[in-house]
Amino acid sequence: MKGFLSLMTFALLSVAQGHGLHDKFSAHEGKLYFGSGSIDPVDLKKIGILEIVKKELGQISPVNAMVWGTIEPVRLGFNFTESDTLVEWAVASGKLIRGRTLVWHSQLPRWVHTIDQQAELIDVIEQHCFTIADRYKGKIFSWDVVSEAMNEDGSLRPSIFSRMLGDGFIRHAFWHARRADPGAKLYITDYNMDAVNLKTKAMVSLVSKINAEYGNIIDGIGTATVTGSVDDVPKALEYLSTAIGIKEVAITELAVKDVRPEDYVKVVQACLDTPLCVGITTADVADDWRRSSNLRAFDSEPALEEQALDRANGSWSLWDSKYRPRPAYHAIVDIL
Ligand SMILES: *[C@@H]1O[C@H](CO)[C@@H](O)[C@H](O)[C@H]1NC(C)=O
Ligand SMILES: *[C@@H]1O[C@H](CO)[C@@H](O)[C@H](O)[C@H]1NC(C)=O
Repeated sequence: MKGFLSLMTFALLSVAQGHGLHDKFSAHEGKLYFGSGSIDPVDLKKIGILEIVKKELGQISPVNAMVWGTIEPVRLGFNFTESDTLVEWAVASGKLIRGRTLVWHSQLPRWVHTIDQQAELIDVIEQHCFTIADRYKGKIFSWDVVSEAMNEDGSLRPSIFSRMLGDGFIRHAFWHARRADPGAKLYITDYNMDAVNLKTKAMVSLVSKINAEYGNIIDGIGTATVTGSVDDVPKALEYLSTAIGIKEVAITELAVKDVRPEDYVKVVQACLDTPLCVGITTADVADDWRRSSNLRAFDSEPALEEQALDRANGSWSLWDSKYRPRPAYHAIVDIL
């Protein structure tokens, strides 16, 4: 029995210190995790996904479990059923969590859209951000506090938040998340920042301005990196790293069309080479389902994540629909 137990302990340890993507990536200095998004409690019931997450990944993010419409479907009527399940699983399994997303124009319930007083909206942002960050204090590695706040030309994206509060909604969200969980890394995230374009420049200006005025309340910038062309990703990561007061950058939703090995290698190498880049999160684990058709809709939803629609067809993930690793997976392992 004793021999069996120590064999089990050894087996467990060798899984924990295994040779998956996360273990190899995080063995590099300053690199903390290789993980995946689009993991809700329901996905952990799929054996193919579960095996990959356990062996290969060190971090997870949900797609529906933590969005506003799921967690606060009515004002102060919080429902933590799904997020509790996910957080408990991740903590027990030793996986970091990137929580997403506290304030986002998408997947909002109707009641938020009907608010017409500034002071009320500020209270609502405070209650939402504080309550959730407080509940999972110490268990969430990083929060996407504000997501997709900008248009491609660098202006603020129209939303209930920007229409009522300008860019002020961003600092309110960060303040209250910080107050609730001072240890979590707080991120602003967006997509189409895969080159030093107008949006990338505007992101660096906005974060620098807020951090200079309000005492470095934004810790990190997340860049989705859902793209067909990765040529300028290294420059973009370097540029995002120049924002005043940030401590980290991260790739938060990696999906490169057609999953060419050379493209994935280039992105992973870019993160390795960028001192502030701490981690990579792929959009999905495998091409067994589509995020775009699995985003939960709430009744007022005008348009679900436009970028996701582009991903409805084709290959995007490191594992295929049968959970077999693609050549890009092996190419990444080879450089790590
Ligand atoms: C809370 O969420 C769970 C999971 O989505 C759902 O089954 C349940 O009905 C919700 N509870 C309430 C009170 O709405
Ligand atoms: C995906 O491909 C099918 C078949 O070619 C097409 O009918 C459908 O419109 C495409 N979906 C998107 C979102 O592009």
